[in-house]
Amino acid sequence: MRTSFQTTSERRLDRDSFPMKLWEKAKKYGIWNPADIDFSQDAKDWQSLNDLEKEYMIRTISQFQAGEEAVTLDLLPLIMAIAQEGRLEEEMFLTTFLWEEAKHVDGFNLYIDAVLGSSREDLHHWLLPAYQEIFYKHLPEALNKLKTDPNAVNMVRASVTYNMIVEGVLAETGYYSLYKMIEANNIMPGLLKFVGKLKQDESRHIAYGIYLISRLVAENGDEVWDAVQDQMNLMMAPSMRLIQESYDLYDVLPFGLNLDEFNAYAMGQFQKRFKRLEKARNQNLAELGVVAMEEVI
Ligand code: FE2
Ligand code: FE2
Repeated sequence: MRTSFQTTSERRLDRDSFPMKLWEKAKKYGIWNPADIDFSQDAKDWQSLNDLEKEYMIRTISQFQAGEEAVTLDLLPLIMAIAQEGRLEEEMFLTTFLWEEAKHVDGFNLYIDAVLGSSREDLHHWLLPAYQEIFYKHLPEALNKLKTDPNAVNMVRASVTYNMIVEGVLAETGYYSLYKMIEANNIMPGLLKFVGKLKQDESRHIAYGIYLISRLVAENGDEVWDAVQDQMNLMMAPSMRLIQESYDLYDVLPFGLNLDEFNAYAMGQFQKRFKRLEKARNQNLAELGVVAMEEVI
């Protein structure tokens, strides 16, 4: 039974806390509307692509669309776990997190409808085995565990899978390849604008993940740090396979894309997050908030 409220007690809201700083940023930068983005030039640019470019583009977009749906559906158990612990500031930020994921689903959907029309084919065949392994199995499994057993080890495994791997490595590498396709070729201005906004949102999500994982390590010690390392390493193999599997289908890649470049980029993202987690290790809450804020763009 509830006996008091944080906001009416002397504790009040901790406005200096890292989650409240992220909350302020989300209120300022997360309020854009995907429906305001004009995809009409994108629809024209789509018509000018050759068959290989179209296939490659829609494969990438399908992976983003399904991925945004997955992270929207799978986040709730983490929010529940945080709310049950009474961490009001973190839950306030997480309401923006979930709302933003829903907007990303919305935006990719608007883009797909604009370029393919509403009579498009089923897109599931663009989601290959390693993609399925992560988004059908690892991600929902890791998050759903929090419904029944939200202990610190399960929480860091969920956050590593969601924030460090799916958002920090896979989505970041996906944006990089998308930029290579559209920015370098000066096409799809609507999509470019959308992905720019989305990247900003995602930087706050990843920053929260760095904060959450580091807080749990600081509070619980080596057992939780070992779980962080183990989960990072466990998820790395299917992640690299996911990046590889799309490229294996083609002898020559469209848009002048290069697999080695993406492998190196994904590895760089992985190492960047690992270094940041190591840097935040053994620091107090205020200090690790500073490290986590380095993620925010
Ligand atoms: Fe997203
Ligand atoms: Fe996200």
